[in-house]
Amino acid sequence: MQYDVSSLVFRFAVSFVTVQAIAAAGCIFAFKKHRNRRVWLAVLAAMLYLNCAYLFLFSPVELRQQFGTVIDYALIYPFFAYMLICMALAPLFVAAAAAAGISKTVSALGGTSDCAGPGSGYNGQRRELLKMMTAGIALPVAAPSLYGLYVGSAQMKIDDIEISFPALPAGLDGFTILQISDLHVGPFMDSTVLQPIVRSINALAPDLVAITGDIINWGSAYIDEAADGLAGLQAEYGVYAVLGNHDFYCDTDTLCSKLEKTGIQILRNGWREIRPEGGGLLQLVGIDDSKSRMMRDPNIHNLKKALHQAPEAGFKILLSHRPTVFDAAAALGMRLTLAGHTHAGQLISPFGNGRAWSLAKFFYDRDYGLYKRNGSYLYINRGLGVVGPPLRINCPREITRIVLRRGNPQVETAEG
Ligand SMILES: [Fe+2]
Repeated sequence: MQYDVSSLVFRFAVSFVTVQAIAAAGCIFAFKKHRNRRVWLAVLAAMLYLNCAYLFLFSPVELRQQFGTVIDYALIYPFFAYMLICMALAPLFVAAAAAAGISKTVSALGGTSDCAGPGSGYNGQRRELLKMMTAGIALPVAAPSLYGLYVGSAQMKIDDIEISFPALPAGLDGFTILQISDLHVGPFMDSTVLQPIVRSINALAPDLVAITGDIINWGSAYIDEAADGLAGLQAEYGVYAVLGNHDFYCDTDTLCSKLEKTGIQILRNGWREIRPEGGGLLQLVGIDDSKSRMMRDPNIHNLKKALHQAPEAGFKILLSHRPTVFDAAAALGMRLTLAGHTHAGQLISPFGNGRAWSLAKFFYDRDYGLYKRNGSYLYINRGLGVVGPPLRINCPREITRIVLRRGNPQVETAEG
């Protein structure tokens, strides 16, 4: 499947120009009484400036590499903060316009004079209320957005987890897997960001590296960038990857062949047998994303395809982009499933005990971290890259270091 980038650009531009027009019209109404022409001209100039971001957002890699960080800090990040503010304000103004329309209709049907007429006290009060609500929405959206864009998006964490299995072969006790996911190589992720991450992973000397999909954001223009960024990734028993939904928004065959040239093995509904020096057998299974638009698609079809003719023996680990396969995977004997896809919504609440609420919880029952079901485990990595606005709030990029242990778990994970 080839992804039509020009249609994405068009749809994005049309949607955002509409949202922006609604937000601008609402602000003009709310702040109409402020007649300082210079302020309005400055606002108009700022709007025009911020809209120049399209030129860089959708330009080829070379143009972005030329300007890089300066453009991001001076134009792209402010554009996304502005976009989020407009997206928050537009529903307020639509609701206010609808309420005003209903009020006028009711007045007309009742035969009363229009109490909301121009210059009336009622209209003035309504405008004051709208002004307060505009500030009350815009400021709380602006502050965390700016933090997430300038600070949060660059934060990185190595999450260490140890998972114990009573039936783990002795030779796999202490086996270390480094998982990364959702790189989204594109406008906000390139080889200069990836190469230090690759060096960090190599320094941790893992037994195996697993990349759980969405290597590319969209567009074949970024394939070389992804291959350059991941070149040099090493692990004693190999570097393996599966394809996420975004990896089908480019020339997928070229992506696979270029990654394979760097030594990465792509598991496309297939499996590999890994025999550690200490004995035992690890069966690593990997599936393509289903490409389904259904958020909770369990992708059983690809899992069954991958397991067709797979040997029964061995300790089974599944690499799948979407975590929604977990129930089926556990039922089919996968003892551990490594997934990504959710990005934890790129926003995790700073409050709450245990697993704090994330934006992804709106869409997925299992949004990030470790889950257990009938003795099988699922781990959902928060990802390295971003989709949509390039921000992360309390949701640092993640490298996961998973150590397999033989025995009973020291800390019991709740079923979920
Ligand atoms: Fe992703």
